Amino acid sequence: MILLDPLGRRIDYLRMSVTGRCNLRCIYCLPRDSRCCAPGALHLDSRLIFSVAQAAMHYGLQKIRLTGGEPLLRDDVIDIVRTLKQMGVPDLSMTTNGVLLAGVAPALKAAGLDRINVSLDSLDPDAYTRITGGGSLPPVMDAIDAAADAGLLPVKINVVPLRGVNDSEAAGFAALTIDRPVHVRFIELMPAGHKNSGMESLAVPSVETMEKVATAFRRQGRRLLFEGEGGSSRNYRLEGAKGIIGFISPISNHFCGRCNRMRLTSSGKLRPCLFSADELEITPGASPDEVENILKQAVLRKPAGRKTGSAIPGRMSSIGG
Ligand code: 5AD
Ligand code: SF4
Repeated sequence: MILLDPLGRRIDYLRMSVTGRCNLRCIYCLPRDSRCCAPGALHLDSRLIFSVAQAAMHYGLQKIRLTGGEPLLRDDVIDIVRTLKQMGVPDLSMTTNGVLLAGVAPALKAAGLDRINVSLDSLDPDAYTRITGGGSLPPVMDAIDAAADAGLLPVKINVVPLRGVNDSEAAGFAALTIDRPVHVRFIELMPAGHKNSGMESLAVPSVETMEKVATAFRRQGRRLLFEGEGGSSRNYRLEGAKGIIGFISPISNHFCGRCNRMRLTSSGKLRPCLFSADELEITPGASPDEVENILKQAVLRKPAGRKTGSAIPGRMSSIGG
């Protein structure tokens, strides 16, 4: 059985924010004062993870991505991966900041994780520390290699270009794809939170980032060639490069018309659209039939798309980006 929303879009991709906690404080994500709670607080109940996954499998789910917050802060993350893979999830991936990844990459792979995305906004150690509110770059660079060695392929690197902060690094990031089979994806900054603190002014449209990359490599006689569309990204390759460069443009060219996703927030609510506050609670102790029903309702409540100029209501760390 497959799940179609009111616009006929097939919803077969579930993103789960498995924890609202994070060990970094990226400038565009968590507010600086958001120190929080006891360890383990803000974790999504693992029974909910499995019951929603099971319901989605019933409806022909193709893909689950574990996000956060930082998924690797959960000490049961390997068990979660193993159980989801045993349930038969065809494509199981994770988005992590990479801080804790190097040591657990082989165990994640062994438990059944297929692929991994690492959020990385600077290749300069000082800038990285500034952007992440205190993070250290070397372990993340090691983690990218460790993930590739463990076979979590392709390793995708998520970069959010920010004007005057890291936008001069576009070509440097693109250069990572020449010798390594990594995908570098530039994601346009999305306005998040009700009152955005002037953050929108840092947004860099994808065309601008693409121009920077193309210009830098044209000088070296290397063209940037279009490879095709991949999910939400438009993909390019530098001539002769091993890896891919993707541009994800939620602001300048939103992909609502092709949206295939449903979100489960770290507080256990189904969120039909990133840009809408509408959420459906899953009653604790709901039977499999009831969870399937709530999931179906959530899909029927998916809006056509984001309204121009709208911001994401709530916190990215609990919604899961
Ligand atoms: N705009 C764009 N991307 C964001 N992310 C977090 N907050 C935002 C935002 N406001 C990204 C992170 C990570 C992914 C899960 O979402 O950089 O790569
Ligand atoms: Fe943590 Fe990711 Fe938010 Fe950075 S963007 S604070 S790594 S959840």
